[in-house]
Amino acid sequence: MSADLLKALGLDAANSGSYLGQGEWSKTTDAGLIESINPATGTVIAQVHASSAADYDTIVERAQAAFKVWRTTPAPRRGEAVRLCGEALRRHKDALGSLVALEMGKIKAEGDGEVQEMIDIADFAVGQSRMLYGYTMHSERPGHRMYEQYHPLGIVGIISAFNFPVAVWAWNAFLAAICGDICIWKPSPKTPLTAIASMKICNAALKEAGFPDLFFLFNDAGTELASKFVDDTRIPLISFTGSTAVGRAVGERVARRMGRSLLELGGNNAIILDKTADLKLAIPGIVFGAVGTAGQRCTTTRRLFVHQDIHDDVLATLVKAYKQVEGKIGDPTQASTLMGPLNSEQSVKGFLDAIAQAKAAGGTVATGGEALTDRPGNFVLPTIVTGLKNGDTVVQHETFAPILYVMKFASIDEAIDAQNAVPQGLSSSIFTADLKAAEKFLSAGGSDCGIANVNIGTSGAEIGGAFGGEKETGGGRESGSDAWKVYMRRQTNTINYSDSLPLAQGIKFDL
Ligand code: UN1
Repeated sequence: MSADLLKALGLDAANSGSYLGQGEWSKTTDAGLIESINPATGTVIAQVHASSAADYDTIVERAQAAFKVWRTTPAPRRGEAVRLCGEALRRHKDALGSLVALEMGKIKAEGDGEVQEMIDIADFAVGQSRMLYGYTMHSERPGHRMYEQYHPLGIVGIISAFNFPVAVWAWNAFLAAICGDICIWKPSPKTPLTAIASMKICNAALKEAGFPDLFFLFNDAGTELASKFVDDTRIPLISFTGSTAVGRAVGERVARRMGRSLLELGGNNAIILDKTADLKLAIPGIVFGAVGTAGQRCTTTRRLFVHQDIHDDVLATLVKAYKQVEGKIGDPTQASTLMGPLNSEQSVKGFLDAIAQAKAAGGTVATGGEALTDRPGNFVLPTIVTGLKNGDTVVQHETFAPILYVMKFASIDEAIDAQNAVPQGLSSSIFTADLKAAEKFLSAGGSDCGIANVNIGTSGAEIGGAFGGEKETGGGRESGSDAWKVYMRRQTNTINYSDSLPLAQGIKFDL
C-alpha cells in the first residue's frame, strides 16, 4: 500500500532531497541518508539523499536568478501561479493527505485537513495578489504627493517542523510567491517525503504552465547546511517553525546579520472553563484540543482551568471521553482511528519524562500516563494530570504530547492571570455563557496570547486569521490577515510636482 502511495506522488524507495530548479533534482548520494520512519510501525518508509554544500549553493544561486525575473512579474500573474498550485493540490489531496498520515503519524482526516489548509491558503493568496495595498498620505508641502508601496523582499528561507509538515510551508510559500519572492525550504528531517511530494506537485503545475522556479528544497543530514542557511545574508527572511530553544538561536543569529525572522515557536495553551459554559461544546472542544494530532500541535490544549463548582463532574466526564479515545488509538491511516502515534521515540521519552516529573511534583494521573508497549510504534495513552499548580515546572513547559493538566479556579480574574502566567503566548480560549467573562478575556487586560477564542478550543485555527503568538512563541504572524507584509519590503515615496523645493519642517537653506 505504501509503495503505491509513494508511486502516486512521484516518490521512490530512495529519493533526492534537493530540488535544484530548472526541473532538476540533485544526483548527490554522498551527503548522508535520511530515513523516513513510519511512527506507527517503526519501519522505514523510504530514504532520502541529503543535500551537499554544492547543492545548497546551486539552489541559492538559482533562487537569486529566479528572483530577478519574478520580482517584476505582475502580482496578479504571480497569483495565477499559486492558483495552479492550489488546483494541483486539490487533485492530490487524498494521496498527499495519506502520506502526511503515514509519515507524520497524524490521523488521515487531519492529514487531509492539512492539505486543505494548503489549498485554502492558495485561494487566499490568489486574492491577496490583487490587494498588496499601501497607504497614500497627504504631504505637508504643496505640489507634493506621498504614498507607500510594498516591493518583493527576495529569497525567503522556510524551516518547518514535523507536526505540520506541509501546511506551514504553504502558508509561507504561497504568500511569499504572490509577494514576488522565491522560497527555499528546509523541512524537518522527520518528514522529508511529504516535502518532496509537495514540491513535485507544485513544481509540475508551475512548469506545465511555463512559470519559472519559485520553490526550491534542500534536506540537511545534520545541522551544517541549516546553520549556513540561517546565517546566509542572501536570504533576507527566515521563517522558522519549531521549538523555542532552536527558534531563539535562529532569531538571534538572523538578527545579528540584520535579517528578518518570522518565528512560530512553542505554545502552552489553556482553556478556561467557566461554570456557565455549555459543556456540549466544551467537552469535545477540550478533547480535540488536547488529544488531536496526539497533542503535537503548537496550538494543543495543555492546560485546563475549571471553575471549582463544576471541576469534579467535568473531570469525570473527561476521563470517560478519554477512555473512548483509548479504544480508537491505532494506525493513523485507518478512517476509524481517532489518535495515532507520537512522531518519534524521542517524543515518547519526552512524554514519559513529563509524566514522571508531574508525579514527582505531587500530580495525580487521572487517566493514561503510559506508553503502549504491547505493539510497535510510538503509541502513548492520552493523559490527564490533576493536583499540580500552574507554577510547577512541568506545567510551565511545553511537552509535545497528549498531556492535559487540569487545575481549579474560583474567579475569572484568577483564571485569566493563571492562563497568562507561562512563558509562551500562542493560543487560548474560554468557554462561557457570561458575556462579561468573555469580553474580559478578550480585553486588553485579558488573554495575552496571539489567538484568543470564545466557546471554541485552542487548536484548529482557520487560515484567514493571522497565526502566531507572543512572548516565547516568538511574535511572528503568518497565514491570513495582513501577514503577507512580512514577505515584502516597504518603501515610502514622495513626489514633487511643483516648481519649487520646499523643505520639510519649514527649514530654510538659502544658497
Ligand atoms: C502548528 O501546530 O504548527 O491551528 C500549526 C491549528 C492548525 C495549525 C497548527 N491550523 O491547530
